[in-house]
Amino acid sequence: AKTHYHDFVVQETKVTRLCKTRTSITVNGQLPGPTLEINNGDSLVIKVVNKAKYNVTIHWHGVRQMRTAWADGPEFITQCPIRPGGSYTYRFMITGQEGTLWWHAHSSWLRATVYGAIIIHPKEGGSYPFAKPNRESVVVLGEWWNANPIDVIRQATQTGGAPNVSDAYTINGQPGDLYKCSKKDTVVVPLGSGETSLIRVINAALNQQLFFTIANHKLTVVGADASYVKPFTTSVLMLGPGQTTDVLIKGDQSPGQYYIAARAYASAQGAPFDNTTTTAILNYQTAPNGSNPIMPNLPAFNDTKTATAFTTSFRSPGKTLVPTTIDENLFITAGLGINQCPPNAKNSTCQAPNRTRFTASMNNVSFVLPSNYSLLQAHHQGIPGVFTTDFPARPPVSFDYTGNVSRSLWQPIRGTKVYKLKYGARVQVVLQGTSIFTAENHPIHLHGYDFYIVAEGFGNFNPKTDTAKFNLVDPPLRNTVSLPVKGWAVIRFVADNPGTWIMHCHLDVHIGWGLAMVFVVDNGVGQLETLERPPEDLPVC
Ligand code: C2O
Repeated sequence: AKTHYHDFVVQETKVTRLCKTRTSITVNGQLPGPTLEINNGDSLVIKVVNKAKYNVTIHWHGVRQMRTAWADGPEFITQCPIRPGGSYTYRFMITGQEGTLWWHAHSSWLRATVYGAIIIHPKEGGSYPFAKPNRESVVVLGEWWNANPIDVIRQATQTGGAPNVSDAYTINGQPGDLYKCSKKDTVVVPLGSGETSLIRVINAALNQQLFFTIANHKLTVVGADASYVKPFTTSVLMLGPGQTTDVLIKGDQSPGQYYIAARAYASAQGAPFDNTTTTAILNYQTAPNGSNPIMPNLPAFNDTKTATAFTTSFRSPGKTLVPTTIDENLFITAGLGINQCPPNAKNSTCQAPNRTRFTASMNNVSFVLPSNYSLLQAHHQGIPGVFTTDFPARPPVSFDYTGNVSRSLWQPIRGTKVYKLKYGARVQVVLQGTSIFTAENHPIHLHGYDFYIVAEGFGNFNPKTDTAKFNLVDPPLRNTVSLPVKGWAVIRFVADNPGTWIMHCHLDVHIGWGLAMVFVVDNGVGQLETLERPPEDLPVC
């Protein structure tokens, strides 16, 4: 196994999109940032130097970080931010994961432009569980704002309202030829007639679940979130932010150009919706000159049926390690709400409907980041007063979560509350979406772990009847589950990685409103279960 060394310089870069040029925060001047290409079993040493004017951290999304929680990256969870002028070196290993992951800033809205792909090839001497493709490409889906995204979220935070939606969806940083001033930079993905290509699709969008398709080509899904899956064929993918999907395509169409396209999937009733489409071009190397790309069909933005048919098609390829008995059984609601405006607050700070402020919570707790220490530091050094260990294992009151809910349930409490798990505990979490104020989808991401999705469904989870639907044979292993609108999902994992691990909605607008909680996994007694010592250069607050 190799060790790979990289320098990531976070810096201001002039970027032109949609006919306008603005200063953008990038890594090494690139948008998307550099792709990390490694083998399973390799180690990475990445020195991040902050030359921008904002605090920053980098998170290696989906990397297990076994015993290396200090390298996970979410600000104030596992480290204090890297200040302007500062640096921090992330050291970690890839342990057993193969496929596609990605990295992104985990600080305010910086990840809008600070992100890139992580390609994990099979371990040295190993091979794919499918015939070796002739070529490989990466397709990273993103979002672009004409304004500085940091200003967009700051304004929303000050007013209590919803932030402006993005001005374009992007593929590898480019809106594509359906947007103005974007044609000449449209991304081209090459393919030869008769060839097979592995396309690694990543949803790095800030706030949007996306449908994805390629005109006239069947997509054979072979992996997701750096785990292989039992191959299945589809014409459309749906990815929540944070999720990756690896597909094989075959060059079996007549030589020409075919659109690769992505468009919003959202079924928030009454929420602003942008129905534009980002495109790239799949180009047969033998395509005749001047051919017009063939257009695909994409599902409508509210096509929950197609989205659900896709997300429930995943199976693990062989026998899994899904826990069949559990030690910890949590029931966690996830949803949006609104807070009444404090009596003496200015109207300008309460711009959500009827003079309120938007909020979000899990089990009625709106998560607040600490500011003087990271949670991991506080936990490791026993610093009191940084967090409390009273995150509730179930909601304070049970109610009709997906029905019409009483206004009294609209007022979550704020706190830095964590839930302690014993090292090695077999954990089940029932994630229940709520329709307090409004129902939305929530791509829920857990740091430090992959989890099995054993079931999902609509309405309120019913422990009497829904447990019969659990797949304890070949459930898929993921790091992000797309919690259906007005629905639920059940995940299981073994708490075998010590640290402080945030679980949150991967729509960044929802994190800011508090849709997060943290698991603290205690050190075990043995050497192997213990967290490593903090690195010397760990940033302090
Ligand atoms: Cu990809 Cu906490 O994030």
